[in-house]
Amino acid sequence: MKVLEKDKRTSINRDEPLCIIVIGASGDLAIRKIFPALFSLFCQDLLPKDFHIVGFARTTMSDEAFRERVNTKLTCRYVPGERCDQLMAAFLERFSYLSGNYDDSESFKQLYQKLDSLDASRQENRLFYMSIPPFLFLDVAHALADAGLVHRKDSEGWSRVVIEKPFGSDRNSSDELTESMGKVFTEEQTYRIDHYLGKEVIQNLMVLRFANLIFDPIWNRAHIESVHISWMEDLGLEGRAGYFEDYGIIRDVMQNHLLQMVALVAMEQPLSLHSQHVRDEKVKALRAIPPLKLSDMVVGQYSAGAHKGRQHFGYLEEDGVNSESITPTYACGVLHVRNRRWDGVPFMVQAGKALGDNKTEIRIQFRSVPGNIFGKAGKALGNNELVIRVQPDAGMSLRITNKAPGLGIALLESDLDLRYDAAFKVVIPDAYESLLLDVVEGDKSLFIRSDELEAAWDIFTPALHQLETEQIKPEAYPFGSSGPQVAKALASRYNIRCQSTLKPEEEAE
Ligand SMILES: NC(=O)c1ccc[n+]([C@@H]2O[C@H](COP(=O)([O-])OP(=O)(O)OC[C@H]3O[C@@H](n4cnc5c(N)ncnc54)[C@H](OP(=O)(O)O)[C@@H]3O)[C@@H](O)[C@H]2O)c1
Repeated sequence: MKVLEKDKRTSINRDEPLCIIVIGASGDLAIRKIFPALFSLFCQDLLPKDFHIVGFARTTMSDEAFRERVNTKLTCRYVPGERCDQLMAAFLERFSYLSGNYDDSESFKQLYQKLDSLDASRQENRLFYMSIPPFLFLDVAHALADAGLVHRKDSEGWSRVVIEKPFGSDRNSSDELTESMGKVFTEEQTYRIDHYLGKEVIQNLMVLRFANLIFDPIWNRAHIESVHISWMEDLGLEGRAGYFEDYGIIRDVMQNHLLQMVALVAMEQPLSLHSQHVRDEKVKALRAIPPLKLSDMVVGQYSAGAHKGRQHFGYLEEDGVNSESITPTYACGVLHVRNRRWDGVPFMVQAGKALGDNKTEIRIQFRSVPGNIFGKAGKALGNNELVIRVQPDAGMSLRITNKAPGLGIALLESDLDLRYDAAFKVVIPDAYESLLLDVVEGDKSLFIRSDELEAAWDIFTPALHQLETEQIKPEAYPFGSSGPQVAKALASRYNIRCQSTLKPEEEAE
């Protein structure tokens, strides 16, 4: 395999000291994703030589107990064998922990003293990762500022803050959050993470489109009939009722992950890979999408059903869910990108929990071939389709029509398949590795800018409000199915071929 350009990431300035402060360090995201990602960077010499990691949360823990908790999820993907144990020990030495309350100034004064004791010169860079529920963001940001933890002058080193979605729950609340957070951290210092953007296949979308000659000429309404982006999960709530009841699938998945994929498929080629240029083009694409209408939408909620040999509760029977809840666990909507490239091409976005499948993919469906010269055999002429598989089994495949080998002419559809695990014998980085490295490097291309967030909420806010004020009941679908039947009617209204990967007997289960 020919590598065209050496990875720019080896150019990180390793001499600048760095302190990573993880707020909510006792939580699932920190332990399962953030610390393992930092360890992977450490194993590849991609963190500064002088760095330390300070965990902060309410849970009382000693430094040692914290290190043990972190250790449980570290993996030796990059450096197998004995050397990995040495690296783990060296990595964990950099960890310390402070227990405190998120709205207590005294706790943050102690955090200040801790950081001071770790770097008396106060010239280190500071990365604050808010791995906490969003309602705590503002309290914590103000407490950090009041305690003097956020660097104000360049001479003190940089300060950056990473926040996790959801960023508000509609356009207004999102604007308020942006404005209030902006009083502590400037837009330049704010890194709004959408971890889907760090996924290898998603990062490849721009390369696929703009580093190959063959796609651009056909990447438009003349050749593409529809785009179908779907996120399917075969799990129910998994104990996250509190969070999910407040947000639902549209806010949890559609407004962010799926819309980001729409933007990357629909955007024009940016002037360069500079974060400003990339995000300018994404905003332009999002601004060309009018608000989603309820008539172009289906919402669903899972009912009890059998999946993989187990009987599952319906959403309303799950612990912590209001028995009258109208929170959607499934949503499907057709977006329209009103510009010269895409006018008339439906972009169907679909997200659902408790479905019969577990995958995320983008399907670019091409128009049919005009002029059948193959007679009866040509009746089987299928449409070309490019499938970009985000997870699991990252890869892509292009469906083509082929001559069936043998005497005479018979046609069949075949897939040109690129599976990442088979094609690239390298460790595929986790999305958080890639994104955390970008934060350390100050590269914001894969983070959501405030105007991008505004445009994203403008698309979904009217429909979300209407669903709530009119108390629209979601359509029931059984756990383990492919979603509500009416979603199929919506797809066929737009001539979108939805591929059910379930066999009919599984659907009926
Ligand atoms: N987990 C994921 O895979 C994932 C994916 C995407 C986005 N996110 C986002 O990332 C952030 C962190 O996620 P997470 O799953 O790690 O959350 P979490 O486990 O629910 O919370 C993280 C920490 O925050 C503290 N906390 C939780 N609920 C609290 C409450 N009601 N009041 C005060 N403190 C509370 C807890 O620490 P103490 O009790 O020790 O203070 C907890 O360990 C959230 O914004 C979430 O929406 C998570």
